[in-house]
Amino acid sequence: MFLFQRIVLFLFLYLSGAQYLFAQWPLSDSTERAIDRLLAAMTLEEKIGQMNQYNGFWDVTGPAPKAGADKFKYDHFKQGLVGSVLNVRGVTQVRALQELVVKQSRLGIPLLFGFDAVHGYNTVLPIPLAEAASWDLPAIERSARVSATEAAASGINWTFAPMVDISRDARWGRVMEGAGEDPFLGAKIAVARVKGFQGNDFSSPFNILATAKHFAGYGFAEGGRDYNTVDVNALTLHNTILPPFYAAVNGGVASVMNSFNIFNGVPATASHFLVQDILKRNWKFKGVVVSDWGSGIEMIDHGFAENLSQVASLAANAGSDVDMESYAYVNHLSEEVRKGNVSIATIDQSVRRVLRLKFMLGLFKDPYKYCDSTRERVYSMHPEHSQVARDMAKRSMVLLKNEKQLLPLVEKGKKIAVIGALAADKNSPLGNWRLAAKDSSAVSLLEGFDAASISYQYAPGVKLVAGDPVHFVQELAINTTDTSGMAYAISIARTADIVVMMLGEHGLQSGEGRSRAQLNLPGLQQQVLEAVYAVNPNVVLVLTTGRPLAITWAAEHIPAILLAWQPGSQSGHAITDVLLGKYNPSGKLPMTFPRSDSQLPIYYNHFSTGRPGPKKEVFWSHYIDESHAPLYEFGFGKSYTHFSYSDLQLASRGDTVVVQVNLTNTGSVVGEEVAQLYIHDRFSSIVRPIRELKGFKKVQLAPGVSTTITFELPVSLLGYYNETGTLLLEPGWFDFYVGGSSAATLSTSFLYSKK
Ligand code: NOJ
Repeated sequence: MFLFQRIVLFLFLYLSGAQYLFAQWPLSDSTERAIDRLLAAMTLEEKIGQMNQYNGFWDVTGPAPKAGADKFKYDHFKQGLVGSVLNVRGVTQVRALQELVVKQSRLGIPLLFGFDAVHGYNTVLPIPLAEAASWDLPAIERSARVSATEAAASGINWTFAPMVDISRDARWGRVMEGAGEDPFLGAKIAVARVKGFQGNDFSSPFNILATAKHFAGYGFAEGGRDYNTVDVNALTLHNTILPPFYAAVNGGVASVMNSFNIFNGVPATASHFLVQDILKRNWKFKGVVVSDWGSGIEMIDHGFAENLSQVASLAANAGSDVDMESYAYVNHLSEEVRKGNVSIATIDQSVRRVLRLKFMLGLFKDPYKYCDSTRERVYSMHPEHSQVARDMAKRSMVLLKNEKQLLPLVEKGKKIAVIGALAADKNSPLGNWRLAAKDSSAVSLLEGFDAASISYQYAPGVKLVAGDPVHFVQELAINTTDTSGMAYAISIARTADIVVMMLGEHGLQSGEGRSRAQLNLPGLQQQVLEAVYAVNPNVVLVLTTGRPLAITWAAEHIPAILLAWQPGSQSGHAITDVLLGKYNPSGKLPMTFPRSDSQLPIYYNHFSTGRPGPKKEVFWSHYIDESHAPLYEFGFGKSYTHFSYSDLQLASRGDTVVVQVNLTNTGSVVGEEVAQLYIHDRFSSIVRPIRELKGFKKVQLAPGVSTTITFELPVSLLGYYNETGTLLLEPGWFDFYVGGSSAATLSTSFLYSKK
């Protein structure tokens, strides 16, 4: 009987011509009609099955569970009660599970295979925050392409990335996963990443579905504490939080993930306002909304739903199409439909979206499209991917300080000491979210030095704490008590010409659940840094971190600081390239570095208060015990050369403001500069930030060479969303600033008058 039904289903699809349309997004009418026919053939339970996602739970190539907790899940696959899975990967595993569903379920609807391929897969690229520091959109797209290629080759067809949450709070561990604090930069990077993952054509087995997450507001968790309450106003929502999501949707992203937080008192997974009104109705999003892991069931802890049945109806009615790991839909949704709490039309709309993605990928035509073991062998850790990873890592690094001409390093004839346990570590550089990579598979800094034949003496100074790399207590990743290695570190520093210290956070001290209250160098590293500096001030600090750190003492004392972030698999080689000047650093901060964690939240595009100061007396907006200025502002980053900006010109051409500036490389080596354009609306009916990024260009210049940089700004970019999400474009004076950071001083003004 099953066979007959499958033949009928195939004919439905074949006759509709749908098999030729898989590559298109949005899909054509004939595919929608094919989905209609498929929906008509499905039972309610099968429909809800498409809305149910399970986590990978057993070795699918091994013996299937006969009993126990996973038995019911196994049966659910055969009964067509599962539409997608996450964390099942590898061609053998994926094929086995796909076969189970395609061959044994009544309608044989193929599964989607999801995975968090966030910044790489087997090859690990820099953490996304680092990549954002490159401001290099083609490079970021290339990087996502590598992740997609390797993930696709291993059977995955859906990544839960990019995370496009804007955040202003470096305590939040997940800032490592995003593009930082700015909505304009965030939107551009969101599109580049979506393009990188999805490509242009879903008929290719190397292109996978992307997910813009977490919708919405997750980056605004109070106090930077993960999963915490979010309490933001409508202006922040429309002007800061939503733009990267909107850009991703316009860029064709296939799915959007709900966030864990509440928004306006409603858990985002049940937010009709966010999902139905904004995403699906206003933005006309046609893809799938997937819950976050258990974000449905967590509504009970939020005090919003009393039980899982209510979770099911609240989430489904709000438009959350797929339930990841709450077991609400699979166990309770049909009962909610029967009780009249959820309409069949609502179910059909969600199922249609899931089926659309399956059509789009061509899975009805070939459910094993991503299951080619030769491809898996060839593309896993492909040598070209290492090249991309090394290149991306170099482009991501930010030179924060360079005095005494310590950099680029002239190592010949110099005695070099390398200090810091992280310099020898091969795991930390991978950062968080690298589930498909081999632990400790990165090139360490010491290995990078060895490969470049640099001679050095090495001392860890303070050791790392050994432990389970994923679950050990992250606060203790770097030793807080053992000072036994300090004396040796100081002794090699004393006799060296230059000391390279690699200090910072371990790669697993940021990421989900890894919020920190203090943004210092963890463990005893500050102590070691000061002790080394006391005997030898020629210190180059290589700062490795997943978030901005308050390294105020280092910024004041240490002559050279290179921010390397967590650079991925090629870490040691890339850092060495930059230290030696084989690559001239070109990164710019995508997030403000605070002087102290007590300044948080701190961000460049804040409003002016009524008492901005500075004033001699006390009554202005400031701290009496700390500057209110950042340590390093958004957009900041140095180079081994120097750039100067001059001759800023504005012209109005129709609905475009044309901004031109002259940029000169005034130093002695070739370098790249990210020229940034900021605006400020002087007076408006809604108060505007003191500066807003509205354009950037990354250019390379040979020494002594000048170029004219042109920004073409559509006047709509002068606008601002009001609390209902309507763009206001008001006449009046705007200040324009162009330069190498958000503190740019070269300015001019523009009178916008509505036509
Ligand atoms: C929870 C995270 O918040 C989300 O970003 C991720 O995609 C899921 N877990 C699945 O791993």
